[in-house]
Amino acid sequence: MRVILVHGGVGVKPTPERQAVLRESALTGYQALECGLLDAVEGAVRVLEDSPLFNAGYGSELNLDGEVEMDAAIIDGYKGRFGAVAAIKGVTNPVSVARRVLEDSPHVLLAGDGATRFARKMGFPEANCVAPERRDDWLAARWGQERLPSGIDTPASPFFGLSPTQGQAGGQAPDCQIGCDTVGCVAVADGKTAAASSTGGWFMKWPGRVGDTPVLGGGIFASRRGAVVASGLGEVFIETLAAKLVDELLEKGLPPQEAAAEVIRRLGRREQGFGGVVVASVDGRVGAAHNTASFPVCLIIDGKVVEEFEAVKVDS
Ligand code: GLY
Repeated sequence: MRVILVHGGVGVKPTPERQAVLRESALTGYQALECGLLDAVEGAVRVLEDSPLFNAGYGSELNLDGEVEMDAAIIDGYKGRFGAVAAIKGVTNPVSVARRVLEDSPHVLLAGDGATRFARKMGFPEANCVAPERRDDWLAARWGQERLPSGIDTPASPFFGLSPTQGQAGGQAPDCQIGCDTVGCVAVADGKTAAASSTGGWFMKWPGRVGDTPVLGGGIFASRRGAVVASGLGEVFIETLAAKLVDELLEKGLPPQEAAAEVIRRLGRREQGFGGVVVASVDGRVGAAHNTASFPVCLIIDGKVVEEFEAVKVDS
C-alpha cells in the first residue's frame, strides 16, 4: 500500500486555492514515491513551501525584527535517520536543506547562521522568503506594537499570524484568513515510512525562537510502526513530546486515528494546547485530528485522492 498524507497547518482556512495547492503537493509527493520515500515527503513539502498561501518557505510569517527564520525537518522511519534545520534564513526550501543535513552531514540539526552557511555550501542560493502579503501583516502588526510597553507581548496573534487589523488577537485558534502554521507530509510505501515538515513559526516570534518542527519527538517522528507530523503551538508539542507519544500509542495497538485523537485530547488539557497531527501507520492506515478552527489535509492512497478524508475535530 502507498500512502501520502499532507496538511497545510492548523487554523488555516481551507480555501479552494489552498486546497488546490495541497492537492498538487500530495500528487507531487505521490509521483516522487517512485524515487523513494524521502523524495516523496520532501517533494510534497517543497510545493507548499513555494506557495505564499502557507506558513513555510516563501509564505513564512515574519519575526519581531521583520525577518523570516524557518524550521524544517525530514525523517526516514525505516532507517531511523533524521535531519533538521532551525532558524534558517534566506532559502526558499528549508526542507531540502534538512535533507542535506540528514544525507550529507554528520549532524542531525543545524541552527541559525550555521544552518544558512551550510545551505550555501550545499549550493542553495540566497533567496527572498518574504512574500508581500507577509510583509503587509508585519507592517500592520508593528504599527500596533509601537503602542506596547514591551516587545514580546505583541498585540498580533502570538501564533496564527493574524494582524491586529483582523481583530483576532489572542491565543485562541481563530478562523485564519491569511496567517497559518506549519506544513507537513507523512508517507508510507513498501512497508517503510517517512515524514517531513516545514514552518516559518510564530508570527512576530522572538528572533532565534525555535518551535517543534525540527524537534524529534515534538513536532515530527517516524519509526517502523508509522510516521507523524504536527502543526500547532510548538512549545506545547515540545513539552509533551506529542509526536513521540503518537508513535507510542501506535506501538500499544491504537489505530492511527485514535492515536491522533488521544494526543490532541491530552494536548487540549494544557494551556495554549492548540494543534493537530497527521499520522500514517506502516500498514497504510491514516489518522488526522485537531482542536482548532480548521486543519486542511489531502490524502492519496494507491494513486487515488481520497476526497472524503478530513481531519477530525477533537474536544478536550
Ligand atoms: N508549529 C510550528 C511552531 O510552533 O513553530
